Amino acid sequence: MTSSLSNRKIVVGVTGGIAAYKTAELVRLLVKAGAEVHVVLTEGGAHFVTAVTFQALSGNPVWTDAWDARMDNNMAHIDLTRGADAVLVAPASADFMSKLAHGMANDLLSTLCLARDCPLLIAPAMNRQMWENPATQRNVRLLRDDGIALLGPDAGDQACGEVGNGRMLEPEDIFEGLVAFLSPKLLAGRRVLMTAGPTFEAIDPVRGITNISSGKMGYALAQACARAGAEVLLVSGPVALDTPYGVSRIDVHSASQMHQAVMHHVAAHDIFIGVAAVADYRPVEVATDKIKKTGAEMSVALTRNPDILAGVAALPSPPFCVGFAAESRALDEYAEGKRVAKKLQLVVGNLVQDGMGGDDNRVTLYDAAGRHPLPAASKIEVAQGIVEHLARMLPARAPH
Ligand code: PMT
Repeated sequence: MTSSLSNRKIVVGVTGGIAAYKTAELVRLLVKAGAEVHVVLTEGGAHFVTAVTFQALSGNPVWTDAWDARMDNNMAHIDLTRGADAVLVAPASADFMSKLAHGMANDLLSTLCLARDCPLLIAPAMNRQMWENPATQRNVRLLRDDGIALLGPDAGDQACGEVGNGRMLEPEDIFEGLVAFLSPKLLAGRRVLMTAGPTFEAIDPVRGITNISSGKMGYALAQACARAGAEVLLVSGPVALDTPYGVSRIDVHSASQMHQAVMHHVAAHDIFIGVAAVADYRPVEVATDKIKKTGAEMSVALTRNPDILAGVAALPSPPFCVGFAAESRALDEYAEGKRVAKKLQLVVGNLVQDGMGGDDNRVTLYDAAGRHPLPAASKIEVAQGIVEHLARMLPARAPH
């Protein structure tokens, strides 16, 4: 399995805005993911970051001038986008968006955007008043009507000291937005509800029972579903991970809270995926005060938690249900046993020693047709393999 950007040709346009410094990191991420990157810098962009920076990071010459004689036929505005998979302008200033909306072609970047034969994505970046100005908003509508994809902007602190809409998305989110844009839409129109991470079952205000799930597998799967065009709601136990771009997230601590959140939202979803390592038991009582050390031993009475996945699968009209099984041995036997016992369409089995905590995993899929091992890979690559299998199993959607 390869990265979805390997061998893709991406033309990155950089216009005049302080966010241009973040585009250096974006170019680094694209190159690291295997993309061939060609940077085009406007005169304004060159005031913020030099061509040398982008040349060093992309490993390719940087283009700034429509009259640049380095291109054999002197047609940089045509040749740069031929064979490109996308043009991505980040930051896109208010001025550049206005040029694009009105079909202007008075520098290299605006000319090549007009002459391109590939998708165009822009990541706006400007002061909040400029973003909210009716002229900019009019341009946004024109650009969307023309099929140009907008990534962001974000809201928050701005370089000018004001706070509001107009910040450029972070490089990681622009990167993810581009990957999602270029990914096959295997789950278009599907609504996916997922659980991920561990649960934490409190014993007293400072202690509890939990497990070593990092949430990485669940978050990677949420990201892969979002890339594939699904609307994703992730109910997450306590983890130290950022929410994947395009995914909505509800944070919970205990299995009971996870159960409640899932049951509240499940009716609006057509797929449920349980990746969470849910604690099977919780203390019968949670002490309000910190328990003091007394004897040499201590025991805590435990009671069973609800089985969230089994509960969802037993609903009168359940969504398509996918379970996970983490075992330390006899994976085939236990994973297939869980699929049958919980009445699931698909179970993803992994050995604890392969999948828990780390960045990589090796999984086997179990469905009514048998077992389907996937190659060991990074969790995002494994997640993409799961999405491909899942998409093949889904019933065709009725035409609207
Ligand atoms: O988070 P990582 O560090 O990336 O690790 C990933 C993982 C190993 C946790 C993940 O790949 C995985 O296997 N998750 C399932 C863990 C597990 O063993 O679950 P289980 O065998 O206890 O439960 C089987 C299925 O029922 C799971 O889908 C689980 O989410 C679900 N379940 C279990 C108990 C319960 N009370 N409610 C549930 O919904």
